[in-house]
Amino acid sequence: MAKHAAPGWWVPFQKRWILVLLIMLSVSTLIAFFIRAAFEPCDRQLEVAHKRVQSIPPIAAKNNPLSFMKSKLVLLVSHQLSLSGGPLLLMELGFLLRGVGAEVNWMTIQKPFGEDEVIYSLEHRMLDRGVQVVSAKGQEAIDTALKADLIVLNTAVAGKWLDAVLKEDVPRVVPKVLWWIHEMRGHYFKSDYVKHLPLVAGAMIDSQITAEYWKNRTKERLRIKMPDTYVVHLGNSKELMEVAEDNIAKRVLREHVRESLGVRNEDLLFALINSVSRGKGQDLFLRSFYESLELIKEKKLQVPPMHAVIVGSDMNVQTKFELELRNYVIQKKIQDRVHFVNKTLSVAPFLAAVDVLIQNSQARGECFGRITIEAMAFQLPVLGTAVGGTTEILVNGTTGLLHPAGKEGVGPLAKNIVKLATHVERRLTMGKRGYARVKEMFLEHHMAGRIAAVLKDVLKKSKNHLY
Ligand SMILES: *[C@@H]1O[C@H](CO)[C@@H](O)[C@H](O)[C@H]1NC(C)=O
Ligand SMILES: *[C@@H]1O[C@H](CO)[C@@H](O)[C@H](O)[C@H]1NC(C)=O
Ligand SMILES: *[C@@H]1O[C@H](CO)[C@@H](O)[C@H](O)[C@H]1NC(C)=O
Repeated sequence: MAKHAAPGWWVPFQKRWILVLLIMLSVSTLIAFFIRAAFEPCDRQLEVAHKRVQSIPPIAAKNNPLSFMKSKLVLLVSHQLSLSGGPLLLMELGFLLRGVGAEVNWMTIQKPFGEDEVIYSLEHRMLDRGVQVVSAKGQEAIDTALKADLIVLNTAVAGKWLDAVLKEDVPRVVPKVLWWIHEMRGHYFKSDYVKHLPLVAGAMIDSQITAEYWKNRTKERLRIKMPDTYVVHLGNSKELMEVAEDNIAKRVLREHVRESLGVRNEDLLFALINSVSRGKGQDLFLRSFYESLELIKEKKLQVPPMHAVIVGSDMNVQTKFELELRNYVIQKKIQDRVHFVNKTLSVAPFLAAVDVLIQNSQARGECFGRITIEAMAFQLPVLGTAVGGTTEILVNGTTGLLHPAGKEGVGPLAKNIVKLATHVERRLTMGKRGYARVKEMFLEHHMAGRIAAVLKDVLKKSKNHLY
């Protein structure tokens, strides 16, 4: 490996990574306490939040698809400010826009009373990057909204802000609103939230299947028509790609995490990384995992010892479900094979440490499911449910394998686990193909390009409306 050829450079480099690793692990356990559960994005895995909001360097304005946004005044309206998926994604957009010289203002609709450490630190992070934090209420809010060239309203629930704050100015503002929607649960289809949806310049949704769902449900339930709707698949942050493409960092992380779990280097490790809840299917995954162990025993297959790790535990929030999972593990006597890890901010160490990612979200699945593209960046094959955004990311048989959602998926997932355990070559090839797919379409610059096309359209429309 070329990296070993320059020892003078390699040593500090490795030290730097050990440092980064330690920071990741310690910060994550600290901040995990602050993670809010109030917001339920369809993409709840993002609540196992990531440190992806840091250090997105300004991209050279030249060749940047967003460069036409220079000097534009953009108002970002967030329903809340927390370490959950929706707000972090919006902040990421804010930093991309700052990177090309846009003027960016930020409003948080719901703020708790009193001091809040997370809000304080996130607001300061924004101020450091030149994002202005303004009040979401009163005349200042109205003036900013009227002045803005473009307003991004984040999540369906943010819709309440329009009437509550803008009041009679709503009609002047909605033509320049781009509504970014990440939810796909029934209770968001409420007139209270989305009655102005037909009048905004556009809706931006994270997957095709979620966009279709919104179209169907708004029509059938609320009898309203969606505005022009743009599907924008997300991309991996530069920061995550940097770790994913650094073999030394990955090795250090892998060794550290495996050691902490008591899993040896040659063992096979399957991970499900999502907030623990029934919707994310940890219970069904454990059943599949147990079944796969039985299959291997029955057929006397030669495979390395297999382990499962569930990352995203929060005993305080999902006590009953967590106990159910742990009881199952005890009842089946697989305690030494199944590991539970608390909710964490940094998934990179786990992605570096495991061999296969399980995406077992149930019902309509993930709106997008960013963890899937993150795992693919780490060259992991993915075993995913054939629902939601996963079907738009995972190429069945190429970058992973799909299984049905629900109880009928337990058997197929067990077989897929055995398949990847017994076919080492196939597993590694799938991982490489997943990585190639990420490089082709799921990077930050791809996402920026897709968003740029939407913003161009929306700006054009809002101008037409004014003159
Ligand atoms: C939306 O409705 C159409 C027609 O009724 C149906 O074919 C399609 O599957 C529905 N899509 C979703 C995502 O519900
Ligand atoms: C995980 O969370 C539980 C409950 O919230 C806590 O008791 C436990 O100490 C945590 N474990 C670690 C390793 O932080
Ligand atoms: C995925 O591919 C496998 C074969 O590789 C096939 O048996 C299965 O039906 C496919 N599933 C879906 C949802 O396309």
